[in-house]
Amino acid sequence: MKPHLTGPTTPRLLHRAMTPDDAPTFFALNSNPEVMRYTGEPPLESVEQARRAIIEYPDFTTHGYGRWGCFLRETGRLIGFCGLKHLDDLGEVDLGYRFLPEHWGRGYATEAGAATLAFGFETLELPRIIALVLPDNAASIRVLEKLGLRFVGKERCEGLDAFRYEIDRSDHSPV
Ligand SMILES: CC(C)(COP(=O)(O)OP(=O)(O)OC[C@H]1O[C@@H](n2cnc3c(N)ncnc32)[C@H](O)[C@@H]1OP(=O)(O)O)[C@@H](O)C(=O)NCCC(=O)NCCS
Repeated sequence: MKPHLTGPTTPRLLHRAMTPDDAPTFFALNSNPEVMRYTGEPPLESVEQARRAIIEYPDFTTHGYGRWGCFLRETGRLIGFCGLKHLDDLGEVDLGYRFLPEHWGRGYATEAGAATLAFGFETLELPRIIALVLPDNAASIRVLEKLGLRFVGKERCEGLDAFRYEIDRSDHSPV
């Protein structure tokens, strides 16, 4: 499958696979304790580690899709990521997003998430998209609810008890 290195364009955002030049911002994002708090992942420790993570990121080659960088159309600046990830353990496709705190509360996660769901259902023709979120992550849960995902139960994820949300293609309204 041809990898979808470019994702949707929204009123304020461009989505594209990150490149090594994006490593400093990717590091700033993934080393920030506020950002990492509910992700269950250890923070990155250096820009070099971020650069390697970008270079070695396998998802686009393996599945044709992945998490894209979200770039402000107005300035070209990278402000976070959003996209889809195939969860091999569950056999499901997961919506995920993460933004730099100075950009929180302006609707970017909702805007990026809605466009990503549309891409998943309309371009990739996925039957279902899920999201795993820690119960205390109220902002992310709010985003999932705004996007039309529904709570379906608990799911063990990387050693943590997460809430599982999901939406079927038949329940998705085009944006
Ligand atoms: C979760 C995250 C992506 C949201 O990004 P964002 O761009 O601020 O999201 P939006 O502005 O689109 O929407 C946020 C919603 O959550 C609400 N919200 C924010 N903090 C909240 C809180 N503590 N309790 C309840 N709702 C909250 C906002 O009011 C808004 O809802 P509204 O539009 O009804 O007012 C961002 O906080 C983030 O990057 N967090 C760290 C990474 C992370 O946890 N990712 C998700 C892992 S599952």
